[in-house]
Amino acid sequence: MSALAKDKRQPDRSRQPDCSGRTILVRGPAALRGTVQVGGAKNSVLKLMAATLLAEGTYQIANVPQISDVLLMAELLAALGCEVTLPSHHDQEPLMITVPERIASFASHGIADRFRASVALLGPMLARHGEAVVALPGGDDFGARPIDMHLGGLANLGVEVEIIDGCVQARAKKMRGATIRLDFPSVGATENLLMAAVGATGTTVIDNAAREPEVVDLCDFLTKMGARIAGSGTNTLRIEGGNPLSLAPADHSVVGDRIVAATFLAAVGIAGGEVTVKGVNPAHLGVLCGKLRDMGMAMQTTDASITAIVSARLRAAKFSTLPYPGVATDLKPFLVALLATAEGVGSVTENLFAQRFRYVNELRLMGADIRIDTNHVVVEGQDRLQAARVTAHDIRAGAALVIAALGAHGETSVLEAQHIARGYDDFAGQLRSLGAEVRETVVNRR
Ligand code: UD1
Repeated sequence: MSALAKDKRQPDRSRQPDCSGRTILVRGPAALRGTVQVGGAKNSVLKLMAATLLAEGTYQIANVPQISDVLLMAELLAALGCEVTLPSHHDQEPLMITVPERIASFASHGIADRFRASVALLGPMLARHGEAVVALPGGDDFGARPIDMHLGGLANLGVEVEIIDGCVQARAKKMRGATIRLDFPSVGATENLLMAAVGATGTTVIDNAAREPEVVDLCDFLTKMGARIAGSGTNTLRIEGGNPLSLAPADHSVVGDRIVAATFLAAVGIAGGEVTVKGVNPAHLGVLCGKLRDMGMAMQTTDASITAIVSARLRAAKFSTLPYPGVATDLKPFLVALLATAEGVGSVTENLFAQRFRYVNELRLMGADIRIDTNHVVVEGQDRLQAARVTAHDIRAGAALVIAALGAHGETSVLEAQHIARGYDDFAGQLRSLGAEVRETVVNRR
């Protein structure tokens, strides 16, 4: 275990995520065989960590993935005055967070603007002390990602919000419960407003709320802390808030990462073989699994695992990304990679993020036949892709290039693969454990 320094202005630099340029080298083609364990969901753990700000005391969070975004969030919490002890690699210890009586109200540039999840600090900081200054979020490189629904919902709760010098500055003497109808079931806005609403006086109703398993995980955690939330997992959340807050720390285990699990399913779809993915609830990937079965993938499931068996080339299919329980937008790069080697013409229609297409050019370098028509990607499957030198532009795109390379002839180099480490714990090592020929090299830029 290693503790981030208590001095809020001096987080331990040795624990900073490294900014090394990494390259993952994959020699294909090779079938995959064996078992992989997926960790807790990135998109849940970061919000759970933010939610700890709601009550003073010590928390233990288990099933925390060893990914660089967790390290960034840990640094943000340390900068706000928390003591954060990260589990060292694979020691299965929980993440420990001790939140002080008074937290700082300023999550500044330098860390907060490096990843999207930092915006999740707004709700808990406001609920705790009625003020928050948070640098506007960064994140994956796929176009503008507005936070108008977050800010509009906070305004409904009585929060005054301004954007000054690239920071959201929010203040509320006393938040009042309100009915908030989201234009779209935004995951981030639902979570932020949920965390704010527990500190508002009276009842808040979030209508058209997101229903993703990670939102449910946050509701479970907040409920353990003493929050009163009805409707978890439905489109309408009803929160009985309280000001002053009367929450207490709780222990929790992070829900399994369905996106990482889906990456391995797509990998075996491309490479062939038999892989058991443990640590995921198959119900969280229900629509995807139905589609993969239609494509010819044999599957067996238990409560917490999926075994995928692929003995012949899969058939093409049509996918459409949608809010949960639909196929998650994060899966799109894997699905395009999968269709690039399936038999026939398939498509993926993106309904959430208009510009999530940069990896397509990289897949084309490997010989994939892909056309883009506004938000539709049409893919004509090839017998085999060819190895190439390609670049990872974000977490999922990078992982998609690596799994595509498993089905390509020769050695593919995936440059800028450090993006993958934001969401995957030792992706190269896990693929090696399944028999793939994968190496990782590091070019240190410090
Ligand atoms: C989260 C996930 C991301 C996933 C996405 C959708 C994290 C850290 N990231 O992102 O991996 O792809 O859910 O499942 O949990 N929108 C607005 N205004 C807003 C908020 C969102 O217009 O205020 C739009 C977005 O631009 C996008 C859509 O709503 O087109 C969905 O975004 P949202 O569900 O909020 O995604 P995130 O929470 O950012």
